[in-house]
Amino acid sequence: MSDGDTNSIDHAVRKYQTYPGSQYALPTDLVEQERLILQHETLKKLFGNKILLAPVDLGENDKVLDVGTGTGIWMLDLAASIDPSVSMVGVNIETHLFPTSHPKNVEFRVGSVTDLPSEWSDTFWLVHQRLLMAALQISEWPVALREIYRVLRPGGWMQLCESTAFSEGPYPNQPCLEKFAGMYRCLANSRKLYADCAEGLPNMLEAAGFVGIQSQSQRANLSKWAGELGDANRMNFVGVFRGFKTPILKAGGFGYVTSEEEYDALLEGVEREWEENHGTRKDPEFIIVWARKPT
Ligand SMILES: C[S@@+](CC[C@H](N)C(=O)[O-])C[C@H]1O[C@@H](n2cnc3c(N)ncnc32)[C@H](O)[C@@H]1O
Repeated sequence: MSDGDTNSIDHAVRKYQTYPGSQYALPTDLVEQERLILQHETLKKLFGNKILLAPVDLGENDKVLDVGTGTGIWMLDLAASIDPSVSMVGVNIETHLFPTSHPKNVEFRVGSVTDLPSEWSDTFWLVHQRLLMAALQISEWPVALREIYRVLRPGGWMQLCESTAFSEGPYPNQPCLEKFAGMYRCLANSRKLYADCAEGLPNMLEAAGFVGIQSQSQRANLSKWAGELGDANRMNFVGVFRGFKTPILKAGGFGYVTSEEEYDALLEGVEREWEENHGTRKDPEFIIVWARKPT
């Protein structure tokens, strides 16, 4: 494989989070930092060059919170287009992905979305959370949404983004992807992660008390046949799959692979199949959901 290729990385050198109790399965290192930036750009293009779909008006002295902020790329992008008196806080379970420089109105803190500071009740006009599907356990989702609800000011907005997960199959003409999807499902199940959270978001938001729930979805085509964006989507998903390598191998491969070589060969097969199968209904779909805390 070529461009952006990191396949030669020995899985042992990847770095993972150590937050107590966290089941987050993706790495937290420079390679992941680069992937998250690529992912931000692909998502922005996929949604018509927009990063904020909630029709929120951010005015003087409003506060914005980004939970699971990672590199903070979403906040930094938003900061460039809004009033600098808006203060922004990014919360993440660890610091390794945080940027080394950022505008004065942007701040980063260590913490979990499941346990935000008690003094933040009714504080933020906008709370954003994107792609915690490999992080939050099924039982943690309602807790996280309650916390987001609590820290929003009445009438304030929240926006979430997740992706559908590859279902178990069958995948006609894509035997490698079928294996990979099965293996990913085993990893998610072993950690009690909510792989299908994207489908569950509207109901979970309603149960948490949010109103005016709206959403938009975009399917990600996954290879060069779909142009530059398709190729960027491919690189992003390959990056995610490489990130799962250590946890999957450490768990023994779930009966699908027994070595790093087998894992890498399977992943190369997945890429080949994406190139050969021009868009299927099983390709992942990103969903952005937005809603309000009632006034
Ligand atoms: C896939 S990354 C997405 C980062 C960012 N939201 C973005 O879209 O670029 C998920 C991030 O969530 C963080 N994370 C995982 N569990 C978390 C939790 N319980 N609370 C806050 N952050 C968490 C991870 O450390 C990682 O940085």
